[in-house]
Amino acid sequence: MSSDGLILWYQGLLLPRETHSLESLEFAQEFKFRDDDIMAAVYPKSGTIWMQEILPLLLNGGDLTPIQTIPNWDRVPWLEEKRLALIADTLTAPRAMVTHLPFRLMPPSFHASKAKVIYVMRNPKDILVSSYYFHQMAEFLDDPGTFDEFIEKFLDGNVMFGKWTDHVKGWRSAELGDRILFITYEEMCQDLPAALRQMSDFLGRNLSEVTIQKIAHHCTFKTMKTNRMSNFSLVPKQYMNTEKSLFLRKGVPGDWKNHFSSEQLARFTSAIRKELQSESYTLPYNL
Ligand code: PPS
Repeated sequence: MSSDGLILWYQGLLLPRETHSLESLEFAQEFKFRDDDIMAAVYPKSGTIWMQEILPLLLNGGDLTPIQTIPNWDRVPWLEEKRLALIADTLTAPRAMVTHLPFRLMPPSFHASKAKVIYVMRNPKDILVSSYYFHQMAEFLDDPGTFDEFIEKFLDGNVMFGKWTDHVKGWRSAELGDRILFITYEEMCQDLPAALRQMSDFLGRNLSEVTIQKIAHHCTFKTMKTNRMSNFSLVPKQYMNTEKSLFLRKGVPGDWKNHFSSEQLARFTSAIRKELQSESYTLPYNL
């Protein structure tokens, strides 16, 4: 199919039509947030599926039932995807959702509510590599072209949900006070129990160390790969061709070192630095 057929443009963002429509984006804008809702805001390929595993476990004291019986997309749905309208009524309080939306497109009721947000950030070089493989396996996305070409697309924001730098800038400067927790994919990889404790405290859960360790075990890359409710093996091959790449592909920080040439690294680094030069905060990465 031509790229025009695969892509929906919305508020300057490129979105896959397979999972998004103007109706689903309007549904998101009209969605009524409640004070006890929990949202993970994540730029694509930065740990969304991981949060779909973690949140139900944290919110239900480590009960495995949701992650073992409900596919990730219905368990912790995407705010902006078509699926939400079909299953919103099945969500039980406290509802957990994920979003790839930039902060500027969060709906009015989110701002009016006290819903909490966990923002997960990942090193953009690893996001780019993960996304490159994802574009090869997801049949509902454009072919990414060469790695060089894909770097340019990523830097121009001609990828799902636009520029990474815009996403980070928007969420970093969101004035949400103690409603938002910032965490990185790399921290989660380095010490998952510590990251879970941090999230659990933020969400006001008082989980024992035994429960934290149990949740950590079920949220490792290795365990998630075997969970058919989370590893996308339920998705037909015509949508996700797992012979080209797996969704749970490598699950480590630093795979960019196996893909970037020194020229590509210099080009990427200087472009990202330029975009962020006027920002007051320091990135947790040595770009
Ligand atoms: S998506 O399509 O935007 O929803 O993708 P997303 O889930 O945000 O990101 C996919 C990457 O996250 C990795 N992942 C994990 N890494 C470590 N541990 C766990 N448990 C885990 N779960 C998912 C997944 O493997 C993708 O990264 P890459 O680098 O491609 O492996």
